[in-house]
Amino acid sequence: DEVGEIRASLLKWYDVNKRDLPWRRINDGDATDDGERDRKAYAVWVSEIMLQQTRVQTVINYFNRWMEKWPSVHHLAQASIEEVNEMWAGLGYYRRARFLLEGAKMIVEEGGRFPKSVNDLRKVRGIGEYTAGAIASIAFNEAVPVVDGNVVRVIARLKTISANPKDTATVKNIWRLAGQLVDVHRPGDFNQALMELGATLCTPLSPSCSSCPVSAQCSALSDSKHNPSMLVTDY
Ligand code: ADE
Repeated sequence: DEVGEIRASLLKWYDVNKRDLPWRRINDGDATDDGERDRKAYAVWVSEIMLQQTRVQTVINYFNRWMEKWPSVHHLAQASIEEVNEMWAGLGYYRRARFLLEGAKMIVEEGGRFPKSVNDLRKVRGIGEYTAGAIASIAFNEAVPVVDGNVVRVIARLKTISANPKDTATVKNIWRLAGQLVDVHRPGDFNQALMELGATLCTPLSPSCSSCPVSAQCSALSDSKHNPSMLVTDY
């Protein structure tokens, strides 16, 4: 079926084209015990918070230095806010750094194991729906969606949603559609593939449809044959 084709094509594309990023190297795909999964969860958490207002190229160095200084949630929980802010210098929105420190302290105080589900992750300071979905799907294989600005555009095109993507109702609908699409066996890879597709091929002004793994399933592309503006978005 259509959903099955989207999942298979996107995952196959991601396996070949995914960027080699430091947080993806940590226990990539096959963590075998709880400690390894927690290490992955910590790396995903730190990287996703850093990526929330900052470009990938800038985040790489900050992430590597952070993980060298505080390789686990236990190390981070021992840090001072001054050390954390110093490490964050240049990334901006210092509240994000403070939430990481406060979240690490919460997790350690409650036994030191990482929460595994979206519901439990949401209880941690600074972890919202996006970050909870990223950690749960990438580190713990929970089949939940992750929707960032890139995913909004990809799904709006696949399904030709022309409603304003800044409306909360539209975004809610896109989270719902993303939840139907997410691959049950490889949710973390699937979510990262959607983000990666939006960041690299399915760009706002001139998407590279001829290289796109899901062009056959894209209703904006088929509609654009009659109405070329279907592929131009301002978000
Ligand atoms: N942008 C933010 N997080 C990402 C991820 N995990 N993969 C690809 N792009 C991203």
